[in-house]
Amino acid sequence: MIIAVDGTLASGKGTVARGIAQAFGLAHLDTGALYRAVAVELLKAGEDPGNAEAAGNAARHLDPSRIDPAAIRTADAGAAASVVAAQPAVRTALFDLQRRFAEQPGGAVLDGRDIGTVVCPDADVKFYIDAEPRIRAERRWRELAANGEDIQLADIERQLAERDARDSSRETAPLMRAEDAILLDTTHLSIDATLAEAVRMIQNKTGVSPRN
Ligand code: DC
Repeated sequence: MIIAVDGTLASGKGTVARGIAQAFGLAHLDTGALYRAVAVELLKAGEDPGNAEAAGNAARHLDPSRIDPAAIRTADAGAAASVVAAQPAVRTALFDLQRRFAEQPGGAVLDGRDIGTVVCPDADVKFYIDAEPRIRAERRWRELAANGEDIQLADIERQLAERDARDSSRETAPLMRAEDAILLDTTHLSIDATLAEAVRMIQNKTGVSPRN
């Protein structure tokens, strides 16, 4: 069984995807982490994230087992990841890796921006998670503050608007809801309630019961 979870920045899609994976005993891949890791490699090497050749090269040589979770979670890594993700050479390089993960025996949950549209168009169930920008900005701000980053909410709101615009308007695999994706709006729904709803919908659609 393959479950696709796409959505906007800080919509809660990562938490929902992890929860689905746990509930059904599936492997989980946070595909945003791959783009972030490529961005961090470029920043470390002093390269411009917009340099297509350097970015494509870094993506082709990415070793997912060596991603440093702390280094990819910063606001700078996120902003650079959005630039990196707009480049077709990067997306091509990361496509096979994501497909192989999705096709592993036992099934998988992948979360990102183009899982239901490009990476796994035949996924058994697709979700598109979204929330109002103000709510998402507050969530991301709390997350970064908890990690010790000194950043203003107004700056996060501005960055979020820029990244939404870049992710949605790029030519290759832009962020958009697949026609057959179920929309879950987390503006007024807690992430836990959203997860419970997603688990119920998967069970209804596939007949597979959660393990807990
Ligand atoms: O979900 P995130 O914030 O970790 O994603 C980082 C960036 O990577 C984001 O700007 C969009 C991009 N991304 C993408 O283009 N396609 C994906 N499948 C996942 C992330």
